[in-house]
Amino acid sequence: MSKTDSRFSGGRFGRRAFFNWIWTVLGLAALAELGWLGISFLASRRDRNRPGHTESVIKAGEVSAFAPGTVTAVPQGRFYLARLPDGGFLALSRTCTHLGCSVPWDEEKGAFVCPCHGSSFSLTGEVVTGPAPRPLDTYPVRIENGMVKVDCAKARRRDRYLAEQAARI
Ligand code: FES
Repeated sequence: MSKTDSRFSGGRFGRRAFFNWIWTVLGLAALAELGWLGISFLASRRDRNRPGHTESVIKAGEVSAFAPGTVTAVPQGRFYLARLPDGGFLALSRTCTHLGCSVPWDEEKGAFVCPCHGSSFSLTGEVVTGPAPRPLDTYPVRIENGMVKVDCAKARRRDRYLAEQAARI
């Protein structure tokens, strides 16, 4: 092999060295992108947990728009706003606690009935029929100046319905 041949087959300016350089640059670029994604993710979580952060708060509507004993779907928050017969408000997750199917409200049955395996839940989100292991999760509700506001940042798990879970005027 001549000197010239060895330079192209493995020398400093050879094809192998060139591809090694390309792979190194691509690897560094991928690492930089992963790092940027990680930092962005952590920054968004930090912002969401900051006191006063309101991006996750959804205005569901005026108190007077919800009659006692009714359920209203709030699409932008992916929850139902249940107005209990005593006037209290519960924001119920649409996600079935069995395997996560979306649970519709059945007006005729007066219950949330899961289309996947038949679990049903009462107006307060309690399990009426299984296999769902626990009630529908809730989101914190507060009422300010006659407006019902729901914080969708984090759903709350519960074992059963308690009256203090509902927000009241
Ligand atoms: S996912 Fe709802 S009953 Fe199974």
